[in-house]
Amino acid sequence: MNIVLGITGGIAAYKAPDLVRRLRERDADVQIVMTASAEEFVTETALQAVSGRPIRSNLWDKEAERAMSHIELARWADLVLIAPATAEVMARLVSGAAPDLLSTICLATEAPIAIAPAMNHVMWNNQATQANRATLEERGIRILGPGVGSQACGETGAGRMLEPDAIAAAAFDIAGSQDERLLDGKKVVITAGPTREPIDPVRYITNRSSGKMGYAMARAAAAQGAEVVLVSGPVNLEEPAGVEVTHVGTAHEMYEATHTAIENADIFIAAAAVADYRPADIKEQKIKKTEESMRIDLVRCPDILASVAALEAGPYTVGFAAETEKVDDYAKGKLRKKKLDMIIANRVGDDCGFDRDDNTVSVFWSDGEERFPQAQKALLARDLIALVAHRYYAVRGADSKDNVIAIH
Ligand SMILES: Cc1cc2nc3c(=O)[nH]c(=O)nc-3n(C[C@H](O)[C@H](O)[C@H](O)COP(=O)(O)O)c2cc1C
Repeated sequence: MNIVLGITGGIAAYKAPDLVRRLRERDADVQIVMTASAEEFVTETALQAVSGRPIRSNLWDKEAERAMSHIELARWADLVLIAPATAEVMARLVSGAAPDLLSTICLATEAPIAIAPAMNHVMWNNQATQANRATLEERGIRILGPGVGSQACGETGAGRMLEPDAIAAAAFDIAGSQDERLLDGKKVVITAGPTREPIDPVRYITNRSSGKMGYAMARAAAAQGAEVVLVSGPVNLEEPAGVEVTHVGTAHEMYEATHTAIENADIFIAAAAVADYRPADIKEQKIKKTEESMRIDLVRCPDILASVAALEAGPYTVGFAAETEKVDDYAKGKLRKKKLDMIIANRVGDDCGFDRDDNTVSVFWSDGEERFPQAQKALLARDLIALVAHRYYAVRGADSKDNVIAIH
């Protein structure tokens, strides 16, 4: 994938080398185009070193093919991504002004454009910036973030650039979604993250799931054209663009939200780490430290995955198995016992699985299996969604898509 990465003059430009690295890890060719102000924040040398290409910043570039680097790069790009995007460049894009190489490329390209705004929260909330944001969105420019949090100016609010990995994942989703999509017209429900089972008003039982795999699956399914409902336990992740997210706390709430969402769903993917047990009795007041030892009686939580798999005319159902040992055996057992269509198994422990950006999985279905070597969760999710789509059409068949087989 060819990405023109526009870097403009905001403090967050210091994160640009990391963003380039994340894009290149996903096999993108990255051509950086800097504005004059960006050069105040990050050096050309650093960016050339990580991108492996000379930096372009001059509209009047005699080296370029026919001296028109704006046209050459506008045609070359599969995606134009501006990160960080200043308030100023947003205004330039709205006005159609093209005084520099980056804004001229944006006018001349037919590739999708995505921007990751980054600025002080007052600048972001300024009526002019918000009007510009709305106009750009209306014109189909994808706005990534910004996030909320502490800012370089020492204040807190909306305006932080999204983290490089989230921008890279979104960039690939946007560029990938230009192709014919495997799940156009399909509804996919995905659960993600842990659940929290309260003990008293201040304590709960939970697990180490970060939700990253489920969120990556939701992004990948949306990029393939699916209508995606993500039922999410408590996580610290950006909501994926174009996905309906329902936030829940307990296993019981996740059960209810899943069964509400599942109506008319074609595919269900259970990536959440749902508690197996919850405290039988939730104390109304904080438990005081009195005895040397104490007992908490636990009772079973509802089995969301099995309940969906048991639905008559239910969706194609995919489970996840996170195991610390005998991964294949346990996963195949779960596939049979819960009557799933597919199971995605991974080993979890201190060195793998939870709260990491990569994963290694094995996938099993009744008469087949496939192994996926270690890869970034975003890339893995893309391949897993392609496999799920392939198996879904193979089993549920009527409107089978030929291209699914070609892709996987
Ligand atoms: C130290 C410093 C930090 C700045 N940080 C930001 C920023 O984070 N976001 C922003 O929109 N503008 C920021 N600006 C203002 C832009 O650099 C200015 O509007 C400039 O004209 C942007 O040009 P460009 O969009 O062509 O890069 C900053 C200016 C200075 C001096």
